[in-house]
Amino acid sequence: MSVERELAELVNAIQSCRKCRLHKTRRMPVVGEGRLDAMYMFVGEAPGREEDLQGRPFVGAAGRILTDALLSAGVAREEVYITNVVKCRPPGNRKPMPDEVSACLPYLLEQIRLIRPMGICLLGQVALNAILGLGSITRARGRFFEWKGIKVFPTYHPAATIYRPELREIFFSDIKRFVRKMQA
Ligand code: URA
Ligand code: SF4
Repeated sequence: MSVERELAELVNAIQSCRKCRLHKTRRMPVVGEGRLDAMYMFVGEAPGREEDLQGRPFVGAAGRILTDALLSAGVAREEVYITNVVKCRPPGNRKPMPDEVSACLPYLLEQIRLIRPMGICLLGQVALNAILGLGSITRARGRFFEWKGIKVFPTYHPAATIYRPELREIFFSDIKRFVRKMQA
């Protein structure tokens, strides 16, 4: 089956998914968007309010920061693939619970299998823990890890730079470093 076809089936599965409680409160599931042949992916936590309304990842305040950081690294967001660990919005933007992450993670793993990226940038603690099983974003950020033959690079979640402006510069330079490595 073609990647397009398999991804279309994945979209259908997510649209009708009821594997965890988040299906009850979501407006629109957010599958992800970007190129199916993207060289690298960005993985966030879960949709927020704006994402839940539009059905698109990273279109709110955190999304603007991610989009800006990509642009400052010379990349348009259409060139990459952007998604989240959890596809439905947790009420009030609370952190997804461990059972919600376990229920949803197979969809992300399937997306990674289909897109076959060279690298994955993990945005924040939830993505770091879901993929690498690590706990501290402060310690793990800015380093390349090898995972299933893919270069995995954790950094802060862009939303963290709203509450802690001192992280903004680090976030922007991390994104730049990740992009450079992918283009090398
Ligand atoms: N925060 C995330 O983790 N993902 C989004 O898509 C938007 C905000
Ligand atoms: Fe299914 Fe994931 Fe949505 Fe839970 S968050 S209902 S597992 S798509």
